[in-house]
Amino acid sequence: MAANEGLKLVERGEDGVDLAFRADVLAGLSEAQKAIPARWLYDDAGSQLFEDITGIPEYYPTRAETEILRERGVQFAEAIGPGRAVVEFGSGSSVKTPLLLNAIAPGAYVPLDISGDFLRAAAADLVVQFPGLPIHPVEADFTKHVALPDEVASMPKLGFFPGSTIGNMVPRTAVDLLREMRGTLGDEAMLLIGMDLIKDVGVLEAAYDDAAGVTGEFNLNLARRINRELDGTIPVEKLRHVARWDDLYARIEMHLEAQEDLSFSVAGSDFTMTKGETIHTENSHKFDQRSSYMMLLSAGWTPCERWTDSDGRFSLILAEAAIPRSAP
Ligand code: AVJ
Repeated sequence: MAANEGLKLVERGEDGVDLAFRADVLAGLSEAQKAIPARWLYDDAGSQLFEDITGIPEYYPTRAETEILRERGVQFAEAIGPGRAVVEFGSGSSVKTPLLLNAIAPGAYVPLDISGDFLRAAAADLVVQFPGLPIHPVEADFTKHVALPDEVASMPKLGFFPGSTIGNMVPRTAVDLLREMRGTLGDEAMLLIGMDLIKDVGVLEAAYDDAAGVTGEFNLNLARRINRELDGTIPVEKLRHVARWDDLYARIEMHLEAQEDLSFSVAGSDFTMTKGETIHTENSHKFDQRSSYMMLLSAGWTPCERWTDSDGRFSLILAEAAIPRSAP
């Protein structure tokens, strides 16, 4: 079966502007600590830059998670079983997906992504690699409720949420999303989710501020995207990429820091930044086993298996929607 056209779910205004993007940017730039939700980093240019990041020496999470996916196929098959519709949240270019699909004999594959071009290109590749597998791509913002295609209604689901993307969310939002996923996927569902682990601060900060400056470009692309899509005048060359570890919240924060006093406009509204002021553009939370399990349990998911890479840098956790009978 061929990949279908996908469902268009991004709302656009008269001028083609992404209305949610504009609303988030205008609200975020008006706050005392300027902040823009990290998902807006991923337009086509940002998605490509993130793919580049996954190949840089300092950025270990993709290699570590891929190692787990390569090595643990037999255990995935045993724990997950055949015939599930694999629903991937934020599939991007779906590099890791074939490793999972090869391991578990799925019934269908439903990639969800906010970037439609990436989604369709990746789905087209997978159609060739897995000729017998029904593939139903959906262009969607998976932080909102997603209606799954009718074709997979009767199959038990496996949510696949790799990459530690959950770490981009603060705990409250992460728990809301995980609970929403449980609702979308149903009572029979399982979830295979990647969570990056707390480790040496030097290793963490280098992973988010690489020597070649790719992560800096990824961060600055958000300002460029605002200029491109929202008629902005942000002087991008006067912003500096900053990545720093917050030990209390166990997260790397990315900011864009003004190197001098700035004034600019976005979508007709004026903004200023004083020298040293930042726009907070991303959180990347890190976990240990207890904090990852607590988060899943808080959202109605029961962890049942956990795998880490050989260097203990990254974890993949399998959880089930079924609630275990336990006293009291
Ligand atoms: C795509 C969320 C997994 O937080 O590690 C990489 C994004 N930001 N470098 C991460 C990212 C800067 C990445 N995730």
